[in-house]
Amino acid sequence: MPHIDGTAMTDETRVPPPGIDVTIPNAARMYDYYLGGKDNFQADRDAAEKIMALGPSRDICVANRRFLGRAVRYAAGQGIRQFLDLGTGLPNMDNVHEAARRVIPDARVVYVDYDPVVTVHARAMLPADPITAIVEEDVRKPAAVLADPGVERLIDFSEPVCVVFVGVLHCLTDDEDPWGVVREFTERAASGSHLVISHLTDDAHPEVGVAAREVYDAVSAPLVHRGHAAVSRMFDGFELIEPGVTTVAEWRPEGVWERESPGSEWWYVGVGRKP
Ligand SMILES: C[S@@+](CC[C@H](N)C(=O)[O-])C[C@H]1O[C@@H](n2cnc3c(N)ncnc32)[C@H](O)[C@@H]1O
Repeated sequence: MPHIDGTAMTDETRVPPPGIDVTIPNAARMYDYYLGGKDNFQADRDAAEKIMALGPSRDICVANRRFLGRAVRYAAGQGIRQFLDLGTGLPNMDNVHEAARRVIPDARVVYVDYDPVVTVHARAMLPADPITAIVEEDVRKPAAVLADPGVERLIDFSEPVCVVFVGVLHCLTDDEDPWGVVREFTERAASGSHLVISHLTDDAHPEVGVAAREVYDAVSAPLVHRGHAAVSRMFDGFELIEPGVTTVAEWRPEGVWERESPGSEWWYVGVGRKP
């Protein structure tokens, strides 16, 4: 990914935002590395390589991004015109505004991430238009996110909204109550609102899961694998859209790669509709 000034970044030339310690592996930059991006530093790559030795991490992340695109296009196809993307990550393939605006050209999109590396890049790479906002805030503080001027300006909770938690709730521990966080973001949402979740699981590979969590013990955000029942509970109060909470390859795949994507069993994904 090019630097803000359009040149390719290297460790030598890039200047991290003030206060960023590039010696601590960072979850967003490791994810960027899995996806083949260049917005990462040596510590991120070293930790990511340990994860990549355990399984097909790049394919696992690509499958997640493709689910994000399918789910957002599905919601836009139901007439949803506003999207709240929580835990955005570094800009990559098929960002929410691109997927949504393929269906609803003036869809309003708010991106939220607590990582200043993400928000600096997002402000440089994503559209600087009146229908897109980038908010630097912690999703564990729903009240603060919802009170942000960007959210207040673009998201009208009296109309259906699509709330997107893709690849982020496994960064919250049980003590941080991801179920309660989802509820706080969705309880005031209008009927017809949609909830999109993807969540890592180690149900199919518990021993590899232990090894992966050990690597993430040294990373900026923890990794918490959850099972099918725990992820399904995040949709309490929503009607699940067919086929329900499934592995990523089983959720409305659009092509052979999506149907057969390696490592699909590492994700539980789903889309719900608020009655
Ligand atoms: C694995 S990336 C997922 C990015 C994108 N949603 C996707 O699925 O492609 C997780 C992102 O969630 C962000 N994140 C983790 N915990 C967060 C929190 N408590 N508040 C806001 N963002 C958070 C990280 O900074 C990172 O950018």
